[in-house]
Amino acid sequence: MVLPIHVYGDPILRRPADPVEENGPALQQLIEDMIETMHGASGIGLAAPQVGRTERLFVVDLTPMADEVDEEVPPQPMVFINPTITEESEETTEFEEGCLSIPEIREIVRRPERIRVEYRDRSFTPQVLEADGLLARVIQHELDHLDGILFVDHISAFRRQLLKRRLREMARGEVEADYALALPPGEAKMR
Ligand code: NI
Repeated sequence: MVLPIHVYGDPILRRPADPVEENGPALQQLIEDMIETMHGASGIGLAAPQVGRTERLFVVDLTPMADEVDEEVPPQPMVFINPTITEESEETTEFEEGCLSIPEIREIVRRPERIRVEYRDRSFTPQVLEADGLLARVIQHELDHLDGILFVDHISAFRRQLLKRRLREMARGEVEADYALALPPGEAKMR
């Protein structure tokens, strides 16, 4: 089932997510729905808070960006439950990021180039992964969502000032996308 995606300004996007305690049918259904939602919105990553949930969980599928991925990546899609970054490189790179919860805005973000991440996979098996390039980028972006952090928090004060008005409009529900949106509670504009 495709779930509506919560938009900038919704408090759920600022709430730190809670560790997942156990595997089960409800968790597997959520994972399936999140993958379907990510694919439906042509996204390459989606975190649980973006669909209004509080589990520490995100999904990734780099397939649409295959042309830009030179490095070896595990089979896609990937599921990350209770992820933690345990190492990151001093070396950083810049890349233009977007977010399904912040439609139409793209900004350059600087992040560590390589990371090591520990997590549980879709079958709740503990895994350790060393990632670089686009995969490392997406994992860091999605893991931020689980801590209530959005990519626009990483840009310069100057760039943020330029976006301020657009973000305020978005938080009031003045936003459209070609996928289903859940507008901030009480803020949805009358149409
Ligand atoms: Ni995002």
